[in-house]
Amino acid sequence: MNIAIDGPAGAGKSTVAQKVAAQLGYVYIDTGAMYRALAWAALEADLDLADESAVADLLRENRIYLRRNGGSQQVFWNEQDITGLIRTPAVSNAASIVASHGQVRAQMLNLQRQLAAEGNVVMDGRDIGTHVLPDADVKIFLTASITERAKRRLTELTQKGHSATLAELEAEIEARDKRDSEREVAPLRQADDAILVDTTGHSIEEVVEQLLDICKKSG
Ligand code: C5P
Repeated sequence: MNIAIDGPAGAGKSTVAQKVAAQLGYVYIDTGAMYRALAWAALEADLDLADESAVADLLRENRIYLRRNGGSQQVFWNEQDITGLIRTPAVSNAASIVASHGQVRAQMLNLQRQLAAEGNVVMDGRDIGTHVLPDADVKIFLTASITERAKRRLTELTQKGHSATLAELEAEIEARDKRDSEREVAPLRQADDAILVDTTGHSIEEVVEQLLDICKKSG
């Protein structure tokens, strides 16, 4: 069984997807981390993020690798562990720019389908139910109010020692959702057969239970 979890920025997809995968004994694949890794490398290389060929070449010539580490996931760019470097607002913003390029998405699609080929994966992103795994057995579209999503991001960033304000994060999330929804290739969209789950006001545990229940009914 494959499970696709899509939704806007900060809806709690990765936290929830990781826990659902652990409960089911499935492999968790964070596709956002792959775009973030590429964005981080493009920033490091001082590339023009709008230069589609340059960014696509960078991806072609290097290797992104996701490794399971207990309950969480590590992200490697070639041999470098960049897990702790890819969650900043600058990388979030850059990720959504590099993710708008068709040449980049085509390569990511291949990589992501290879990762899911053996089945029993929980994959989260923006286009999993619509493009990467259109035949997924369970499709969830996870969302929450913009204020709640910004509050969660603020807690996450503060815990990691970064500083930001709620207003800044709301603006960043809104801009990113707009870019992700309006891009031409594989925009953020709820698949016709996806189940909408609004997590506003619900704890992580409640949402995980709800998703496991949906999976049980589909299995
Ligand atoms: O989910 P996360 O916030 O880590 O994703 C970072 C960015 O990567 C998103 O804003 C989006 O532009 C891009 N992305 C995407 N397709 C995916 C996953 C992420 O375009 N499947």
